[in-house]
Amino acid sequence: MALRCPIVSVLGHVDHGKTSLLDKIRKTRVASREAGGITQHIGASEIPIDVIKKVCGNLLQMLKADLTIPGLLVIDTPGHEAFTSLRKRGGALADIAILVVDINEGFKPQTIEAVNILRQCKTPFVVAANKIDLIPGWNSKEGPFVLNFNEKNQHPNALTEFEIRLYENVIKPLNDMGFNADLFTRVEDITKTVCIIPVSAKTGEGVPDLLMMIAGLAQRFLEQNLNLNVEGHAKGTVLEVKEERGLGKTIDAIIYDGIARKGEYLVVGGPDGVVISKIKALLKPKPLDEMRNPRDKFKPVKEVVAAAGVKIAAPNLENVIAGSPLRIVPEDKIELAKEEIMKEIEESTIETDDEGILIKADTLGSLEALANELRKIGVKIKKAEVGEISKKDVIEVASFKQVNPLYGAIVTFNTKILPDAKREIEKYGIKLFEGNIIYKLVEDYEEWLKAELE
Ligand code: GTP
Ligand code: MG
Ligand code: NA
Repeated sequence: MALRCPIVSVLGHVDHGKTSLLDKIRKTRVASREAGGITQHIGASEIPIDVIKKVCGNLLQMLKADLTIPGLLVIDTPGHEAFTSLRKRGGALADIAILVVDINEGFKPQTIEAVNILRQCKTPFVVAANKIDLIPGWNSKEGPFVLNFNEKNQHPNALTEFEIRLYENVIKPLNDMGFNADLFTRVEDITKTVCIIPVSAKTGEGVPDLLMMIAGLAQRFLEQNLNLNVEGHAKGTVLEVKEERGLGKTIDAIIYDGIARKGEYLVVGGPDGVVISKIKALLKPKPLDEMRNPRDKFKPVKEVVAAAGVKIAAPNLENVIAGSPLRIVPEDKIELAKEEIMKEIEESTIETDDEGILIKADTLGSLEALANELRKIGVKIKKAEVGEISKKDVIEVASFKQVNPLYGAIVTFNTKILPDAKREIEKYGIKLFEGNIIYKLVEDYEEWLKAELE
């Protein structure tokens, strides 16, 4: 029987360095290529156990435990305030978590939100106190923090400043939220005290220490949760629906439980309920590749054991809704899976108003985020959907506009406008807001609304 790979979610306030930290571990450059410099989707990458062992080296002796985990599946989440639902999903998926806090800025609203999510889910976590290279006078260099944290390598003033920021910006706010916390080298019992690992995603300092502590926490988690043996059929979440050369439309997904086999059936959310399709190929990303931004080709496999990222090729995936739950089952379990998926989709549907505008986005998570941000400024939403903008959509909006000229608007995040839809937009004089940065879309909309009302 296979052992499930523990899932580690990375949570924290916007720009505190979550993606950069993962980039440092993976040797990738995802953060620098993100629109607006912010993460707006859930990401996933696998860290094999050999990589953890290699990066940690001698540090692993600190653990006083053998590592039997097969590796880690790391989930990156957005820190921008709009993405509460994705943080919740990331938090709910997690077996353990890394809370990233900029040691110079300290706790911010989404740091507090993340801690509350972890508390609610009872998820054990460590804190990565990031950006220690910015502490005045700190001499930061790549490698273990424990080797760099001493009077030989640091000026006494830098050490004092470090202790002040560590206490004021990380330990004290955690205490205020009811957690004991301390620098990881000073923690005796990791079940009673939250370990803080100082790191720099810029220089790579502390990365071995962080991986060592996370591996230790994952190992503990594994030993206490005998249900980590993988059995049953695969359960997962769709990250993205993607055109792939030679394969047509495919979906990228996270399998968080169970085993998926080639030849089984995919049951997943679509516009009119569920889509059922026989799987042609299961493809795995290379270890250390971010699923959303892979450097390498995916490799075909016969089965996928949770937790893992996977690309699925099958017929009729055009209408699958990104962000929706999925099951992979043999033929005789399709009906059961269908019921489960219908129920989960019902729970995640966005509420709409009797009148208002049309919004569209590329995934359920970003659609929820967009809807929430627009609601905050009082926007009424008549229809909210995942997918491209069609001619039919525009004609519908033209009818919204007849109720109130201010409803003649479409706000879309990261979606295509089909050519015939463009023509209709001009014809009916519909105001279109399109872009790939949610808060900018909301700002633009707000500006337009103000001008229209004047
Ligand atoms: P969201 O996903 O948008 O919430 O942000 P994030 O937490 O993933 O942060 P990101 O990795 O995008 O980093 C934000 C900015 O901080 C970038 O400009 C990084 O280069 C910078 N940064 C991240 N880590 C460090 C660090 O350790 N030191 C310094 N000096 N800068 C850092
Ligand atoms: Mg990020
Ligand atoms: Na960012």
